[in-house]
Amino acid sequence: MMFERAVRPVLFRIGGGDAEAAHEWTLRRLAAVSRSPALLAALRARYAVRAPRTVFGVEFPNPVGLAAGMDKNGVALPAWPALGFGFVEVGTVTAHGQPGNPRPRLFRLRESEAVVNRMGFNNAGAEALAARLAALPRPLGAPLGISLGKSKVTPLEDAVEDYRASYRALRAHGDYFAVNVSSPNTPGLRSLQDRAHLDALLAALVGEKPVLVKIAPDLTEPAIAELLEVCLARGAAGVIATNTTLARDGLAAADRPGGAETGGLSGRPLAARAREVVSFVHRETGGRLPVIGVGGIVDPDDAARMIDAGASLVQLYTGFIYRGPALVRAAARAATHPR
Ligand SMILES: Cc1cc2nc3c(=O)[nH]c(=O)nc-3n(C[C@H](O)[C@H](O)[C@H](O)COP(=O)(O)O)c2cc1C
Repeated sequence: MMFERAVRPVLFRIGGGDAEAAHEWTLRRLAAVSRSPALLAALRARYAVRAPRTVFGVEFPNPVGLAAGMDKNGVALPAWPALGFGFVEVGTVTAHGQPGNPRPRLFRLRESEAVVNRMGFNNAGAEALAARLAALPRPLGAPLGISLGKSKVTPLEDAVEDYRASYRALRAHGDYFAVNVSSPNTPGLRSLQDRAHLDALLAALVGEKPVLVKIAPDLTEPAIAELLEVCLARGAAGVIATNTTLARDGLAAADRPGGAETGGLSGRPLAARAREVVSFVHRETGGRLPVIGVGGIVDPDDAARMIDAGASLVQLYTGFIYRGPALVRAAARAATHPR
């Protein structure tokens, strides 16, 4: 409640209410926190939850992770485990650094506890991230996932080489890698979820480190089933379900203007569909492919329900915007204790 009453109103006024300005301010603050052992220790004392588990051969201190896109360039990495996250996914990063789409490109839909974004993989590039990660004090306190995407300048037919270049630059630094083929904000990207494209992509990346595939909630069940066959055949370590949606179901009336913005929708309206996809993946693979469940976890019960649907781990992004770090701690507890 502290966050919602005292912190959030201030954050939501930054930059005249511009959501990306608040995001940048928060990241700057957390980057400063990351440089202070005393502040990190204080946060850890308040927020850390220990509920360890091992999934795809990696040990996690608790099952609630930070979803990709929050800390694309890894500027505040020590802060996230101190805020209670059991793992952190940086990126999405691309082989070539790129500015992303013109601003504004991030919109709050407050009544719906949702966000629409069309960031377009703004990031400093794989080499810059590798340099930052190499300089980071280790251990981080939680596993690090690295999300890889396709550079906008790279044509779709050269996508494999683009992902591979990022992977080569970063493979020493990640505990797992997420192949992002599901962002709606890079033209053509989601066609990489098709059998032939995904097969080539996984053939090039699977081997040394666990590789997971992040999927869109807008795929049909037959399309997901086909994708899962490729994942199993190629030895993917798991699936991350789901990315943001193009659908606009379940928005409060006050949020219709925000909902009309182009981009991917996240937060509460995504929860039911994301859970449905997690459940489908779990059923379809007979539990052989671990799932990281993500989408619309805005209260602790959502985390528990995602685990009940078959997720081995969960992640959140939009819930953190609306509820702050208390949600992370409560979700980690809820996801751990069966209801
Ligand atoms: C502003 C913003 C940026 C995002 N950027 C990425 C990204 O770079 N890569 C990615 O795989 N997902 C990205 N996502 C999607 C989230 O990781 C997550 O899959 C989605 O938001 C659903 O979870 P949520 O409802 O908890 O936010 C982004 C989401 C938001 C809101």
